[in-house]
Amino acid sequence: MEKNIESHLKETRVFKPARAFAKNARVGSLEDYRRMYRESIRQPEKFWAREARELRWQKPWKKVLEWKAPFAKWFVGGKLNVAENCLDRHLQGPRRNKAAIIWEGEPGDKRILTYQQLHREVCRFANVLKRNKIRKGDRVIIYLPAIPEAAIAMLACARIGAVHSVVFGGFSADSIRDRIADCGATAVITADGGFRRGAVVPLKHNVDEALQGGTTIRRVIVFRRAGNEIHIEEGRDVWWHRELEYVDAHCPAVPLDSEHPLYILYTSGSTGKPKGILHTTGGYLVGIYSSTKYVFDLREDDIYWCTADIGWVTGHSYVVYGPLAAGATTVMYEGAPNWPEPDRFWRIIEEYAVSILYTAPTAIRAFIRWGDQWLKKHDLSSLRLLGTVGEPINPEAWMWYHEKIGGGRCPIVDTWWQTETGAIMITPLPGAIPTKPGSATLPFFGVDPVIVDQRGREVGPNVGGKLIVRRPWPAMLRNIYGDKGRYQKQYWSEFKGNYLTGDGARRDRDGYFWIVGRIDDVLNVAGHRLGTSEIESALVSHPKVAEAAAVGRPDELKGQGVVVFVTLKSGVNPTPSLKKELRGHVGTHIGAIAKPDEVRFAEALPKTRSGKIMRRLLKEIAAGRTVTGDTTTLEDFSVLAKLGSAEE
Ligand code: WT7
Repeated sequence: MEKNIESHLKETRVFKPARAFAKNARVGSLEDYRRMYRESIRQPEKFWAREARELRWQKPWKKVLEWKAPFAKWFVGGKLNVAENCLDRHLQGPRRNKAAIIWEGEPGDKRILTYQQLHREVCRFANVLKRNKIRKGDRVIIYLPAIPEAAIAMLACARIGAVHSVVFGGFSADSIRDRIADCGATAVITADGGFRRGAVVPLKHNVDEALQGGTTIRRVIVFRRAGNEIHIEEGRDVWWHRELEYVDAHCPAVPLDSEHPLYILYTSGSTGKPKGILHTTGGYLVGIYSSTKYVFDLREDDIYWCTADIGWVTGHSYVVYGPLAAGATTVMYEGAPNWPEPDRFWRIIEEYAVSILYTAPTAIRAFIRWGDQWLKKHDLSSLRLLGTVGEPINPEAWMWYHEKIGGGRCPIVDTWWQTETGAIMITPLPGAIPTKPGSATLPFFGVDPVIVDQRGREVGPNVGGKLIVRRPWPAMLRNIYGDKGRYQKQYWSEFKGNYLTGDGARRDRDGYFWIVGRIDDVLNVAGHRLGTSEIESALVSHPKVAEAAAVGRPDELKGQGVVVFVTLKSGVNPTPSLKKELRGHVGTHIGAIAKPDEVRFAEALPKTRSGKIMRRLLKEIAAGRTVTGDTTTLEDFSVLAKLGSAEE
């Protein structure tokens, strides 16, 4: 039998919610959290019905949940509209004139849209969609920069019941073509270009290339953003601003069945063809509304900034739909964090008095690498809450975030979830749950995660295993678009009726979850199964290291040897003696078994466009092979070329 994943990282720091924060929080104590959690598990239908009643339903549901594993229906028989809940619902009271979106473009241009203005723009654009024969159920590709029009386009689709599929603006023509083919989209909404690090990304040009040779696309709507020259295909392409001249701002929200598809979002996973993750209307909205409210402990005057691109699920759930459903002010920024200088984020926080910042560990490690001088010039005192998502956060990066960005006063919510889960699943509630650097802590309401061994038996404290979820939750995926077989096999067959996350994890004696990485990445060294994140965190705790990735390579004696790729902080010299020092450092922090066989210095690590390290590529390099397989999600190709000749 295969052995369980071992876990060696010892983190003992605990941060209790500050009394002042807890006093005003929605959930203000661990006891309150436990009581609500217990209720959400014992009587999920009662719990979720109460949350759902805070939203607007055009027709009430008959049944909260119908579960025929692995197919769930939430709020069966109910009718509602997501755009109506994100917009119209806020127009009766003072929120009407509150900023819904505060936006900043990379070149420095600025726009603020109040709820009333956003509502108007969404209605007008929804009429443009209708005018262009886009109907309920049609699939629409959105390929836009992070500009307000991205949110407007998403909400306009939702308003008429069209199903959007946002393709990240950094993806190529091939990715667009594949996605169009998979979902049979009939329209594309794009822009002439977008700005990234001062250059123009030729979005419309990429669309033209994707559509060459014929596809199901009949209409392309083009927003003018960058002013670059583009080709307009007569009969197929229309300008957004011209179309607006033909429509008014009256557009009733279509009542949609609770299980009506809201969007498809493609996620590549580690291998194979991208999966079109399907999310629907009622359950998804309730899930993200409720999690936004509790996890970020939103209050009326918060300025909330989630730095994710709208091309990722984080952008869907926690830039657009969650905050708007909750009536918050959401900040959107178009460009790179180091443009024109590495202090862009801190400038934005100071200028708009951002109070909640939600970003990714990869960004935090980049800030650490760029040096503290960039934040010293800025007043970050408006911040009251910080969040992370996307990967395990290395405890040292957590501490830096806590001290340098949060000034030691802001709770950090390390939120674990996935494209498939739609909403946050494991997370601290900032006023209630004490945090430990590197742990996503405890399950969110209604979520029933457990760690099991190969045979599906729950493992004891501090034993590593596979993370699964034992029951359905409202924002869960409903299908892989058009492929029920793959959906069943991929997520629900290994432990029948349980959702397989694909992540390895352990729970400590307090029941806290520690994600140790993707199961596919687990190393097997001389019979010991080691998660990648612990070795990486040990390296990042060394004062000279900015970022690290651990992978296995075939080893005759041990089965696998450990190879680590390390990027150093600015100004540190990559010397042979430092390699030795780093091996020793891992040895002291984790144990001799995890000591890397080889340390390689790298200028940068290959990452996906959403900032995840692509260990699969590093594995091939570590084994001395040339990189094969899909590299289309790679952010910067030059990184690979440099790694090939890795030695300093
Ligand atoms: C995978 C999902 C969820 C939105 C962004 C990523 C990893 C995500 C955490 C966290 C440890 C995390 C997991 C997960 N992950 N958040 N807080 N701690 N790991 O969505 O691209 O679908 O990736 O990201 O491995 O399975 P995604």
